[in-house]
Amino acid sequence: MSLPKAELHLHIEGTLEPELAFELAGRNGVALPYADTDALREAYEFDDLQSFLNLYYELMAVLRTEQDFADLADAYLTRAAAQGVRHAEIFFDPQAHIARGVGMGTVVEGLWRALGRSEATHGVSTQLIMCFLRDESAASALDTLAAAEPYLDRIVGIGLDSAEVGHPPAKFREVYEAAAALGLRRVAHAGEEGPPEYITEALDILGVERVDHGLRCMEDPALVERLVRERIPLTLCPLSNVRLRAVDTLADHPLPTMLDAGLLCTVNSDDPAYFGGYAGDNFDAVRRTLGLSEDRLRELARNSFTASFLEHDEERRARCIAEVDAYEFG
Ligand code: ADE
Ligand code: ZN
Repeated sequence: MSLPKAELHLHIEGTLEPELAFELAGRNGVALPYADTDALREAYEFDDLQSFLNLYYELMAVLRTEQDFADLADAYLTRAAAQGVRHAEIFFDPQAHIARGVGMGTVVEGLWRALGRSEATHGVSTQLIMCFLRDESAASALDTLAAAEPYLDRIVGIGLDSAEVGHPPAKFREVYEAAAALGLRRVAHAGEEGPPEYITEALDILGVERVDHGLRCMEDPALVERLVRERIPLTLCPLSNVRLRAVDTLADHPLPTMLDAGLLCTVNSDDPAYFGGYAGDNFDAVRRTLGLSEDRLRELARNSFTASFLEHDEERRARCIAEVDAYEFG
């Protein structure tokens, strides 16, 4: 669906399509343990978040040079633009690259080759959000923030991702405080597989402005009431939730109930190469399967711009919202 939208929950490493993975593997002399792209696609069968993360980290081995990161981002932006994305706030996982000997500079400069010209070439404005891996130590997160200091003019904020259960937000209090002092915006994954308490911790201890996923807030009515009252955006990822079995089927997704409750929901793609669809595909799927009305779809699109970190360009935000209001559904 080409309804104009902002994508607020997108891991750039999760946009690595099998074809590009094999191309980069060839270019860099990296051996992949899959015969071809079909064999790789057959591995895209997940039981939970961890089973996906295992493949996600394994395939990162093909990303080695600045040009690799530029090609990855360009491929994503081309697909996103074709599905109506006008603004993308893009996560990246520097620790997963630094651990392989690929430095922060290679990652950020490489992504920037594509992001820096994206508004001109794709019509998509972009921002970068650096995520910490929550299954790594708090000290490693602090080292990562220090490594990013030369590049902070290119990074709008920080996030928290990877294996959630057993790694509560409170573990990262110090690095979030340090990031806030540097003027960085703060988001965190919470309530994807972890309990509603992790959402509360992310708000109260990390000071996050948006919650990534936040799906499990629905188990705590008082928390839902708070999220509604405080207008905290949730970056939901419906196709991801199905593939990682956070919900049984898309028809069981609580998105309609969440909208009815007054939550500020947005629809995003998370790791589109792995989960069967980009931002527009997620909109198509919830329209088709959950029967969302045009008004609800428009609300989701408007919310995405409202929840975006476009404070430096309010004119663009207003223009995008006006485009949503004028959009004619096919
Ligand atoms: N890293 C990439 N995708 C993720 C997800 N859905 N949850 C947590 N960490 C991730
Ligand atoms: Zn995610």
